[in-house]
Amino acid sequence: MKILLVDGTIIGTKTGVILEQVKDYIESINTNYTIEIIKLANYEHQFVDGRPFEQYNDDMKLLVSKFDQADGYIIATPIFQGSIPGVLKNTFDFLHPKTMRYKPVSIVANGGTYQHHLVIENQLKPILDYFRCLVTPNYVYTHSSHFDKNNVIVDEDVHNRLRELARVFVQYAEMSKALCKDPIDIH
Ligand SMILES: Cc1cc2nc3c(=O)[nH]c(=O)nc-3n(C[C@H](O)[C@H](O)[C@H](O)COP(=O)(O)O)c2cc1C
Repeated sequence: MKILLVDGTIIGTKTGVILEQVKDYIESINTNYTIEIIKLANYEHQFVDGRPFEQYNDDMKLLVSKFDQADGYIIATPIFQGSIPGVLKNTFDFLHPKTMRYKPVSIVANGGTYQHHLVIENQLKPILDYFRCLVTPNYVYTHSSHFDKNNVIVDEDVHNRLRELARVFVQYAEMSKALCKDPIDIH
């Protein structure tokens, strides 16, 4: 299985650090997955503006193809203005609605306000539900205080939750193998 770990921001480092840790924890459970971390910061973004897909730049085409080819995803997002970064939403807007259908997804996030974990519940999960993803019931929300000044995750509870996230994600990934991804409906 190909697992895509998406760092959903073009600024900051903490979400990338979390993804590296999740990658290690997934690999400690299942060594058969091909895991790739992609950073939206490494792509030249265009807005979804109605032009046909063929007219988007090579980076956008590559980004969409990586989502298409993946069998599961870990989405990492910082919290910006009580929401997800615009660049992450714009990336979702590029995808065909069936791209992530019945595929496993886990969420990790970082914010400067403890209470903004609800952004995941109220804003990111509904988007993934729209895509009909298999969203794991657990996600991990980190706060800046869980990192030291070098952006190393120093909070042991966060590590435990990331291990648990990896464990549940792998179970969802295995379960999804048996699900037919070709819908019989046209919607
Ligand atoms: C434009 C902007 C808006 C932000 N808005 C919020 C917010 O509404 N809630 C929150 O918890 N953190 C907010 N933050 C803090 C970021 O989530 C936090 O700085 C980031 O996750 C820390 O990661 P970094 O050190 O890698 O940049 C905001 C940061 C920026 C740059």
